Amino acid sequence: MNVHAAASNLAQRFDEQTSAFARDAIEGLSKLPKRLPPKYFYDAEGSALFEQITGLPEYYPTRTELGILRARAAEIGPMIPQAAAIVEFGAGSTTKVRTLLPAAAIGAYVPVDISGDFLNAQARALRQDFPKLAIYPVTADFTAPFALPEAVRMMPKVGFFPGSTIGNFEPFEAAGFLRSARAILGSGALLLIGVDLEKDDRVLTAAYNDSAGITAQFNLNVLARINRELAGDFDLSGFVHRAIYNRERHRIEMHLISRKAQTAHLLGHHVVFRAGETIHTESSYKYSVERFNTLARGSGWAPRALWTDAEAMFSLHALAAAE
Ligand code: AVJ
Repeated sequence: MNVHAAASNLAQRFDEQTSAFARDAIEGLSKLPKRLPPKYFYDAEGSALFEQITGLPEYYPTRTELGILRARAAEIGPMIPQAAAIVEFGAGSTTKVRTLLPAAAIGAYVPVDISGDFLNAQARALRQDFPKLAIYPVTADFTAPFALPEAVRMMPKVGFFPGSTIGNFEPFEAAGFLRSARAILGSGALLLIGVDLEKDDRVLTAAYNDSAGITAQFNLNVLARINRELAGDFDLSGFVHRAIYNRERHRIEMHLISRKAQTAHLLGHHVVFRAGETIHTESSYKYSVERFNTLARGSGWAPRALWTDAEAMFSLHALAAAE
């Protein structure tokens, strides 16, 4: 391959991602209330902070879901067809998919993520332990339609969407995601999806207000990223992290509250804050089993199996593509 062409492709992709961030940040910060899409938390810094969050004592979802996957591997494995392609939406750590690999005869693993760097790191880590596994990373924003690699076209498909990432979507977007996953994976597909459950307010708010302050750093990092990538001048000490549970809307809301009246800039745009004004940076929706099943049924999927931990903190759903 021509080295210069490869370099300019990279530069072009970088520009596209940066300009999407610029567009979404400027648009979100012009709204009232101000908002920023949570997908921009995950640059290298933010992803490292999120890894730290997953190990916090208050943040129960990651270890609870992993516990379910490990405890139920003998039930999940037989639901995965022979030589299936596992399509993982979003590539974080490989810990969760590793629970599926020995439990079934997998044909290929297709991690899909917006960050090529994460995909490559993930593929490298997996190749060490599963040298014969075929891995076909796809660099794409999985919130929009994308094509699966030609090599897996004829394989049965199993979608894997752990971590309750679906909780970041507004309910109508979650329905849109499920419909698009149904279209991408095709008929006969299975979808394994992790969904955080509604529970006591104190447990929920503690999970997003950890005593070590890592979630606060994670939240503030989106402003640091604007400073780094979009020529921003946000004063991080001028904002405080706040997470509340909105029970009517079944969601944790993360906010960055301006401590004072101030003006920040990005790419030449002015962003004016009143004292106490918020930027809504994330919603993390929580579901009951029934509400999630209703959402799935309305979006092209039939609930097939459901597992939770003993305390019903977290759920893992197996959905079959409806014909
Ligand atoms: C990755 C979206 C599932 O909502 O719990 C963790 C992100 N934000 N702490 C979540 C998150 C703050 C996380 N998801």
